[in-house]
Amino acid sequence: MTSSSDYKKKLIEVALPLDDINAASAREKSIRHGHPSTLHLWWARRPLATARAVIWSSLVDDPSAHPEKFPTEEAQAKERERLFNILRELVVWENSNNQDVLDAAKAEIHASMGNDLPPLLDPFAGGGAIPLEAQRLGLKAYAQDLNPVAVTINKAMIEIPPKFAGNKPVNPRSRQERPFDTWAGNTGLASDVEYYGNWMREEAFRRIGHLYPKVKVPEDQGGGEATVIAWIWARTVKCPNPACGHETPLVRSFDLSKKKGKEWHVKPIIEDRKIRFEVKPGKSEREGTVNRQGATCLHCGMPIGFPHVREAGKSHELGARLMAIVAEGKRGRIFVDANDEHVMASSTDKPDAYPSGKLAGKSQVNIGLYGLTETADLFTNRQLITLTTFSSLVKEAQQKAYEDALASGMVDDGIGLDAGGVGARAYGEAIGVYLAFVVDQLTNQCSSICGWNAPNTQMRTVFARQAIPMVWDYAESNPFSNSTGSFDNLFKLTIQAFAGLPSQCAHNGSARQFDAQSDNGMREIMVSTDPPYYDNIGYADLSDYFYVWLRQSLKGTYSKLFGTMLVPKAEELVATPYRFGGNKQRAKDFFEDGMLHAFKQVYDYAREDIPVTIYYAFKQSETEQKDEGEKTASSGWETMLAAIIKAGFAITGTWPVRTEKPGRTIGNGANALASSIVLVCRKRPVDAPICTRRELVTALRRELRPALDNLQAANIAPVDLAQSAIGPGIAVYSRYSHVLDADGSEMGVRAALQLINEELDAYFNEQSDGADSESRFCVELYKQAGFNDVKYGEAEVLATAKNVSIQAMENAGLLDAGKGVVHLLARDQIVMKTDLRTPTWLLAQQLTNALDRDGVEGCAKQAMSVSAADAEQAKALAYRLFTIADRKNWAGEAYAYNALVTSWSDVVLKAAELRRHVPVQESLGI
Ligand SMILES: C[S@@+](CC[C@H](N)C(=O)[O-])C[C@H]1O[C@@H](n2cnc3c(N)ncnc32)[C@H](O)[C@@H]1O
Ligand SMILES: [Zn+2]
Repeated sequence: MTSSSDYKKKLIEVALPLDDINAASAREKSIRHGHPSTLHLWWARRPLATARAVIWSSLVDDPSAHPEKFPTEEAQAKERERLFNILRELVVWENSNNQDVLDAAKAEIHASMGNDLPPLLDPFAGGGAIPLEAQRLGLKAYAQDLNPVAVTINKAMIEIPPKFAGNKPVNPRSRQERPFDTWAGNTGLASDVEYYGNWMREEAFRRIGHLYPKVKVPEDQGGGEATVIAWIWARTVKCPNPACGHETPLVRSFDLSKKKGKEWHVKPIIEDRKIRFEVKPGKSEREGTVNRQGATCLHCGMPIGFPHVREAGKSHELGARLMAIVAEGKRGRIFVDANDEHVMASSTDKPDAYPSGKLAGKSQVNIGLYGLTETADLFTNRQLITLTTFSSLVKEAQQKAYEDALASGMVDDGIGLDAGGVGARAYGEAIGVYLAFVVDQLTNQCSSICGWNAPNTQMRTVFARQAIPMVWDYAESNPFSNSTGSFDNLFKLTIQAFAGLPSQCAHNGSARQFDAQSDNGMREIMVSTDPPYYDNIGYADLSDYFYVWLRQSLKGTYSKLFGTMLVPKAEELVATPYRFGGNKQRAKDFFEDGMLHAFKQVYDYAREDIPVTIYYAFKQSETEQKDEGEKTASSGWETMLAAIIKAGFAITGTWPVRTEKPGRTIGNGANALASSIVLVCRKRPVDAPICTRRELVTALRRELRPALDNLQAANIAPVDLAQSAIGPGIAVYSRYSHVLDADGSEMGVRAALQLINEELDAYFNEQSDGADSESRFCVELYKQAGFNDVKYGEAEVLATAKNVSIQAMENAGLLDAGKGVVHLLARDQIVMKTDLRTPTWLLAQQLTNALDRDGVEGCAKQAMSVSAADAEQAKALAYRLFTIADRKNWAGEAYAYNALVTSWSDVVLKAAELRRHVPVQESLGI
């Protein structure tokens, strides 16, 4: 077997414009319109920008792989920057379907790979970010997941649209009104989904619209009638106080709107031992009647413990009272009193038949206590009628689309979607898939687990979190309104989502159900994947909520996929003790063994010349700093690394990717930011050598430094540096088949991580050792006391050691000495002195201060008269100071240095621009 070093290094193994990728990923989070994720909910999706960047940079060679073209480090750095610029464009959301940008990116892939583009497999595809982006970049994408809901999502994104790409819509309206239009990509499909979805809505309204009456508006609110947005209900319980025994409402909050100047609330009024509700302007003066501790009876004021409420729930004795109605006013939301007519309209029977399944695991931990144990328990009778109506309309719409497809001349080969059909039957089924998704999305906002969010007067969906919580005062939305919680609102997002799918595909993608622990027979392919993380999300348990509805609509289309009554659970890789009789250890072992098996499979699948990339999702609790000054490696992280290495991989890169912008939270431990880490892996040769601890240290020393230089040259944010440095470090460790510790025992991942950290420290120390003596003194003092006072004597000892004088440094404006104490001058007290040789410390502080105070432009003004070499020194010092501040938990300080490095390229550009107007002799040299 060839060694992995025989293959060309890829960009992702050397450097990335991580900040730009992370910024694009953060931005993408706020994009809803036109994002493929709005087709169907899935938990903990990766941003498309991240997936796109990871795949691209795993295929494109690093310039150092071509010494014949880029012989010097400078030439390599310049070429790298050119590649970075392509990537920077590629990750921008608006460029997702920009053909020029995609062509430029694909050209680079071809330049490195020739025409031999590998297919990509994601064995844990979930919501499908990775396969979708592989498809966008021109690869053949294979998506696998154990979960039928996830598989169907992937089919809807990568498998179905290319089958019908370029087809004209079949619906009669488009055929009549736009017979000669061309329909590029999936626009024809999208137009049909829109047509049949609208038909579904109209037909549903015809059948059940009477269940959703309009409401009379009081004269002082404009009079007339208004369409209801939501009915606000409170669950009720009988008070256990023998002297009372009345029905009392369980209400988290009586507020209806907390919007400034438009506050509204519900006021409960007790008359004749009965409660009625009045809707009033202003904030509620009364607290809710239920909180974390328990409930309180509105009649007698007695506390009601949760055990009583739970008992009542389990015996089906909880009631519900209508408290208020929210409606569409002429100028925004209006809030009106509940009335009998509306209570009557809601009191229907359950439909004759409806789907339901037993909730399991985390899905029922909370609500199960109150007797809500089946998916159907999470809907009111009216909601069940509505959802079953929509669900059966999916089949009717599918039939209509099939008939229209025939009428439009599509072939009638009778082959269904699942069997690879592309004719009329398959097309009708395809329309059905997207419409079934709309019903699923509707269940997420038509449930008695939906709350009313008073601060923004919007519906809160069932899965606002990755669990199903109990909701006391729930909001029953009107699917036929035009506002929050309506079919229309959701459906618009569905239609817009098509625009976010790749518009041109070189290959048809493929999605199927498969257990990642088994061999799927594929070989010589590219693998990129985001496996489940321990017990973080119980995908199978949560997705039963959707599965039962999807199954009802789609078991005819995908009979095998929807063959089981509920989502298959046994093989799911998640550490859930309840599946092992409560045994935590067995759950842990199951997860770890399973992961190892899955990685071993990946090893067999993967092509050797392309790195395998694996996402590791960080859990917040793992990243807490354990003790002063030391960040202890987390066990989950170690387990993951160990499993990958054990499966036969060497790790060659680690990139912290996140979807949050670093704010003032830095300094609580830099890790707190990273939402996940991408691990870059290569196959380790079977004959990999053994090494000793000493050899490992030597190799680390030799190889970690150039890698760190590269990372710094790429302006990687200081907050990301430590995690990014693990890659090149663990690369050295995982290259050996075994590393033997001094006593002959095998060195584990934890010890290796410690060694890497020590090297990182040494690297920074040396960097500041290279600086002028004054700066080295300042760094030492900063480490000891920040900008606070130190005893004069102590400072003097330090000064002597560094061969500098306190007096001279005071004169140079670095510090303030007096009354037996010394402190470093705070940044805003430092005065710029250009007549002296400026110590790096001073320069770094000035630039940091200028950026903080006057932004990029102000900082550039300071930087424009500084030599390029000095400026680079100052940047290097900012890295060092960040590390110190971060370990000391000085959040503001860490933030300031991090900002300087992350703004660096902007500052340099701006300085060059300024210099063009004011010529100076020595400069940053751009
Ligand atoms: C973290 S998610 C993937 C998320 C995805 N990258 C996205 O952006 O939406 C992990 C997935 O692994 C799936 N999974 C769990 N156990 C599995 C197994 N044994 N085989 C295949 N897939 C499995 C889960 O159903 C889940 O969808
Ligand atoms: Zn009472």
